Amino acid sequence: MKHVLSADQFTRSELDGLMSRASEMEQMIQAGGSDLCRGRILGALFYEPSTRTRLSFEAAMMRLGGSVISETDVTFSSQTKGEVMEDTIRIVGSYADVIALRTKEKGEAKLAAHYSPVPVLNGGDGSGEHPTQSLLDLYTITKYHGVGQRPLKVAFVGDLKYGRTVHSLAKILRLYDGVELTFVAPDVIQMPEEYVASDDRILHTLEDSVLRESDVIYDTRMQKERFDDMEQYQQLRHAFVFTPEVVSKMQEEAILMHPLPRVDEIRQSVDALPQAKYFEQASHGIPVRMALIAEVLGL
Ligand code: NCD
Repeated sequence: MKHVLSADQFTRSELDGLMSRASEMEQMIQAGGSDLCRGRILGALFYEPSTRTRLSFEAAMMRLGGSVISETDVTFSSQTKGEVMEDTIRIVGSYADVIALRTKEKGEAKLAAHYSPVPVLNGGDGSGEHPTQSLLDLYTITKYHGVGQRPLKVAFVGDLKYGRTVHSLAKILRLYDGVELTFVAPDVIQMPEEYVASDDRILHTLEDSVLRESDVIYDTRMQKERFDDMEQYQQLRHAFVFTPEVVSKMQEEAILMHPLPRVDEIRQSVDALPQAKYFEQASHGIPVRMALIAEVLGL
């Protein structure tokens, strides 16, 4: 049984395998889906808001012919009666064959895995990691730029401190040769040291040279819900705003990514530009999560 808890756990060959399986899944969807997971159940436990991650996990399981049970609001959960998450996981693990889990605190996915009789897929643990998002991010980057085949410049912009998707993606991209990472954020929301390597570049402002030279710009939302100081959030929320004018400084073939939801850090007027790939990126959640579910179930 394989849990998916952190981007640390993947090897290059596992990633290569998952990427090619995801591409097969994309074709399988076109051909009408599959019944690979018929009789299997996904338990979706989401204790923080989610649209894409939960729905794409659920849709992925359904496209594989499986079923879904879900709990999406802790106020309707026995945890409000005082049940600890460990107990919920034990029980749901006896109802379902695999659990997709989103928790409020960093480290809780690991804790859940310890008690779960079935694979746990970390769909975001507080400000920790979001490894399954990174797989669909990798799939998107691979589609446009072929990671590891030639030098690739990736710039992460925005709330890098609390943004869990960037924590996992930076780890994954480091497994590939020729990837150069730049982290662009004011000090208070810079990438935490544990995710930074000695050859990464740290910047505080989004310089024109970064816009011009990057193959991939990965923007993130200010994670309002994780700020203790709302005044600080208000000061930072417009630190970076992608307007058509800003995006026009990027190369035509460079891509602008975002895990979504965006608030106003990418203006809607950017959506029609050739660099804007965030909606397509989100759509990759289905084939990638299909591949992942099949893999952890040993199918
Ligand atoms: C992200 C998350 O929940 O970490 N969204 C997602 O899963 N696609 C990013 C965010 O909430 O800003």
